Amino acid sequence: MTARILDGKRIAAACREEIRTQVAQRVAAGVRPPGLAVVLVGGEEASEVYVNAKRRDCQEVGFHSRVERLPATISQVELEGRVAALNAAADIDGVLVQLPLPPHIDADRITDQIDPAKDVDGFHPYNIGRLALRRPALPPCTSKGVMVLLDSTGIECRGATATVIGASNHVGRPMALELLRVGCTVEVAHKFTKDAAASARRADILISAVGKPGLITADWIKPGAIVIDIGITRGAAGRLHGDVAFAEAVEVAGWITPVPGGVGPMTRAALMLNTLQAANEIAQGR
Ligand code: GUN
Repeated sequence: MTARILDGKRIAAACREEIRTQVAQRVAAGVRPPGLAVVLVGGEEASEVYVNAKRRDCQEVGFHSRVERLPATISQVELEGRVAALNAAADIDGVLVQLPLPPHIDADRITDQIDPAKDVDGFHPYNIGRLALRRPALPPCTSKGVMVLLDSTGIECRGATATVIGASNHVGRPMALELLRVGCTVEVAHKFTKDAAASARRADILISAVGKPGLITADWIKPGAIVIDIGITRGAAGRLHGDVAFAEAVEVAGWITPVPGGVGPMTRAALMLNTLQAANEIAQGR
């Protein structure tokens, strides 16, 4: 059996096209385009790549975008001041502070400062709490993008067994909450889990978010399972590697995401979806 490919690149392009149509309608009705502000502290190369990609996405869908480049030496108070200014900016609906931040900055306090209504990353405790309570408002982008991919398979999630490998605040935990919300029986494996492979083998839906290339070998996969690879590691010569040993996994899984071209484009598409949603809610005075 060879797995069907979950083509994130294609599905993300379809999402952007739909957003572009909605933005055009909004603008035709006399409402300003949605605005996304990205704050970049310091000039880390990987962050530059992400920020440029976000700017291109904004351009494609018709959003106004603003990038604030701030020096790595900025103080906590100054950075909080910039966030407060963006919270108050009338042309901005989404505020994203690119991570990681320099070590002298308390990133949690910065996240807490972002207006939850403009928190298009979905990292604010308010938005994580809303997701946990099954009343999602602006949920985190990676897990939201994965849910769009799962939906595209047409497979019923209710009652399925799902295993998430990795329990990070921004990816693994919200992923587990999303799966629980749609009725999966969820296991989360993490660095203290005694037998992650056994948990993986029970899963109809296996999601890996670790960042360890080749961790998920064919023997971790239940035949026919949906395998979603969130892990992205940049190797020699800048090549991207997922957590899943793709060549062998594709022979066992029913569906599988490639790396690159799987979850990555969906995370970016979900950011555009969250920004449009934030803009629509702000325009309606909610
Ligand atoms: N750095 C890498 N990915 C992300 C992301 O999705 N959001 C933020 N804020 N920073 C990141």
